[in-house]
Amino acid sequence: MNARSTRNASPCVSDEFLEFTASVRYDRRLWRHDIAGSIAHVQGLEEAGVLTKKEKDRIISALKNLAKDIRNGKVSFDPRLEDIHMNIEHLLTERIGEAGAKLHTGRSRNDQVALDTRLMVREALVAVLSEVLSLQRALVLKAVENKGTIMPGYTHMQHAQPVLLAHHFMAHFWRLGRDCDRIIDCYQRMNVSPLGSGALAGTSFGIDRTIASRLLMMDGTTENSLDAVSDRDFVAESAFALSMLMIHLSSLCEELVLWSSQEFAFVRLPKRLASGSSMMPQKLNPDIPELIRGKTGRTVGHLVAILTVLKSLPLAYNRDLQEDKENLFDVFDTVGASLHALTAFLGEMEIDPVRMRESAEAGLMTATDLADFLTTRGIPFRKAHGIVREIAIEADGDMDEFLKLAEERLPKAVKGLKSKELAFLRPERSISRRECSGGTGSRAVGNQLKMAEKRLNSTKKIIQRLTTQVEAVNALLDN
Ligand code: ARG
Repeated sequence: MNARSTRNASPCVSDEFLEFTASVRYDRRLWRHDIAGSIAHVQGLEEAGVLTKKEKDRIISALKNLAKDIRNGKVSFDPRLEDIHMNIEHLLTERIGEAGAKLHTGRSRNDQVALDTRLMVREALVAVLSEVLSLQRALVLKAVENKGTIMPGYTHMQHAQPVLLAHHFMAHFWRLGRDCDRIIDCYQRMNVSPLGSGALAGTSFGIDRTIASRLLMMDGTTENSLDAVSDRDFVAESAFALSMLMIHLSSLCEELVLWSSQEFAFVRLPKRLASGSSMMPQKLNPDIPELIRGKTGRTVGHLVAILTVLKSLPLAYNRDLQEDKENLFDVFDTVGASLHALTAFLGEMEIDPVRMRESAEAGLMTATDLADFLTTRGIPFRKAHGIVREIAIEADGDMDEFLKLAEERLPKAVKGLKSKELAFLRPERSISRRECSGGTGSRAVGNQLKMAEKRLNSTKKIIQRLTTQVEAVNALLDN
């Protein structure tokens, strides 16, 4: 017998067909989840009286050996067998014959792939969550190190009001906090077992579906077999949660690109983590932030591709669903690598607080404080805004000129104003007046840092709990 006739799942189909339809090239990544799912499945089969204890033990020990061999690189998968699920079943049957051929009783590749993908996604979500936590820690560290550093705050990318650099870093922290929430939320919704749904209508073998769900440490079983085999919401949801996360990273990265330019010069690039130019000897480039900015497009592209694959699919399983994986895998790889690189970059980049403080002097950023002050002297805010605007336009961005004009003109508008009172227009004083919760005042930022610490601890605990569930897959393979 030649290799083709023994290994081809359907010996009559053409090579071109197999080449077009095979997915093992990429879905081999599901091998651990597939084997763990099978181990959980045979426990249910034994309990239902479909397999004897002996058969079950034989299958499980062969599956574990197979797992060991795959891990040690001793197994090659065959594209003629289409996907990872067929490959593993074939390898098992090759090793133990008849007993192996009983593995697929009461199961379809449709509920099998739905299970495997869920197991892989929950693992990948937890890995991303840990990476986000590290990046959040790096941001907190930067905030703490730069507690007193003042920088210009921007709207429309124009100087707006002075803020603490720590406040700015913490803004990115809280964005990432929402990303963590979305990831955890997605995890909790998707951690249920579709096994037992069969091809679409449910299994007829009286299998207790909770057995597999419990062994895999999932939080329950799906409610409807048609829905279970066709549901890829969790794929789209993960891709969205990770795209939103990348959009947040791209925004931080855009700032780092700007801040490292000669015009801003707020930060110095870490030499170890920046490239030079092949032609210009003086160059140092912010490659990591630039690439993350670029990879955001790639991630959002995958999200759109996944949603488009799902659009208009009739119930229940359709082969289109196989097209979810390459996009999804790349989302996880891209986001994981981006988080890792950015955390390292933040840790090594150097901030120039003097330059930031200087910049905070430019652009009359405390004009609002002056208008606010006038309102405390009984001038309605709209009018106060008009008075200050006039002076600001005349001063044309020059802070000294602005102060001079204010000193000259305001006493006319505000009875009893002493020129030395204008010291409140210094950026430090402007910041210190903003101690409302969530404001840029240093006490308010200190409170934020305390809340952030609590938040990091609670996310850490959630990661620990979810890791125990995720580890059920490896535990089933190893024990
Ligand atoms: N490789 C397939 C997928 O990823 C597995 C399910 C195939 N089912 C089928 N009836 N052809 O979706």
